[in-house]
Amino acid sequence: MVGIDIGTSAIKVVELSRWGKGNTLENYGQIQSSLIYKQQSSNYEKSSSLLSKEFVSRAIRGILEESHIKTKEVIFSIPDFFTFCTSFEIPPMPEKEIPGAVRYNASQYITLPISEVTLDWKIIARHPGDKKSALKIFLVAIPNQVIKEYQEIASMSGLDLYALEAEAFGITRALVKSNNKKTICIMDVGVQSSTVNIIDGGFLQRSYSFNFYSNKLSKSISTALGIEYDKAEEIKIKEGILSSRPGVAETLYLLINPLLMEIKTISAEFFQSEQKQVEEIYLTGGAANLPGLKEYFAESLKKNTSLPNCFSDFLYPPILEETLKDMSPSFAAAVGVALGGLEI
Ligand SMILES: Nc1ncnc2c1ncn2[C@@H]1O[C@H](COP(=O)(O)OP(=O)(O)OP(=O)(O)O)[C@@H](O)[C@H]1O
Ligand SMILES: [Mg+2]
Repeated sequence: MVGIDIGTSAIKVVELSRWGKGNTLENYGQIQSSLIYKQQSSNYEKSSSLLSKEFVSRAIRGILEESHIKTKEVIFSIPDFFTFCTSFEIPPMPEKEIPGAVRYNASQYITLPISEVTLDWKIIARHPGDKKSALKIFLVAIPNQVIKEYQEIASMSGLDLYALEAEAFGITRALVKSNNKKTICIMDVGVQSSTVNIIDGGFLQRSYSFNFYSNKLSKSISTALGIEYDKAEEIKIKEGILSSRPGVAETLYLLINPLLMEIKTISAEFFQSEQKQVEEIYLTGGAANLPGLKEYFAESLKKNTSLPNCFSDFLYPPILEETLKDMSPSFAAAVGVALGGLEI
């Protein structure tokens, strides 16, 4: 199975296979968006389409060729800014009435007309055998237009679209082992937006996105030190909040503190409605690698904080060990959706 994540900063592709109970990382590849869009013609209008299908599919074909990926079946991870997630309860009812009730409820939460979205939902909690208790539903709505664009990208890339999945599900599958029933908060720090996900009992229970641009970090360093953006990006990646240059750590703390607030608010809401405390924090997304971030989160939130490695259970050449550990935060969504395809 091939998993593809068309992210803001890069397109990430993985090819996975399953043999018995083990998974093998067959191939992977990525291309930075800055390389794809550099040569775009001046009359190209971004607003005419959600994604630049020609550029993206050409880039995907390039990655597949370079990485020697022969598999045609693909699952795309759909970024959080294209999806709408919510959770709600419905009263107990016969099984066959549930889809109708979910649809009816969804129409109250989603701003787009219900005919223009595709719904994907899961029952995340119910008491077995208890026919009187409410059903908790986790719902994802994807605009049909987005689905259409991904279908076109798949065909223009010469791939067979096997499925589409919201990235929050992919990230959860990639990072939380199926036997882990703890209450976990996964913070995905993205380039265009960030997401706080709460996983409990192995299921994704909440997923909230908010504006946080990880590129803001480099921009602020660039302004604070009066240096070029590229140099600031380098300092961010190499030194992060551990930097001893005057002003860097202070600038970064100012931007990062709102992320901590988001986690606190969402954990508090979850505790209030479910009486469950978040036990652990997982960080993912490329910016999770920011030097010093993990320690700062652990200290501020007083919780065990880690960057789980989505490749850790895979078979792969040992020489890749360190590379894969570094790549894990930005590849989690692609890996997770591909894993989902192998499970079916
Ligand atoms: N060591 C590091 N420290 C800080 N930031 C880093 C580090 N390595 C990569 N990044 C940042 O991670 C970002 C890329 O992350 P990622 O691959 O998760 O983005 P994306 O998936 O393309 O974005 P989005 O999910 O918002 O569409 C870039 O902004 C890059 O500067
Ligand atoms: Mg991403």
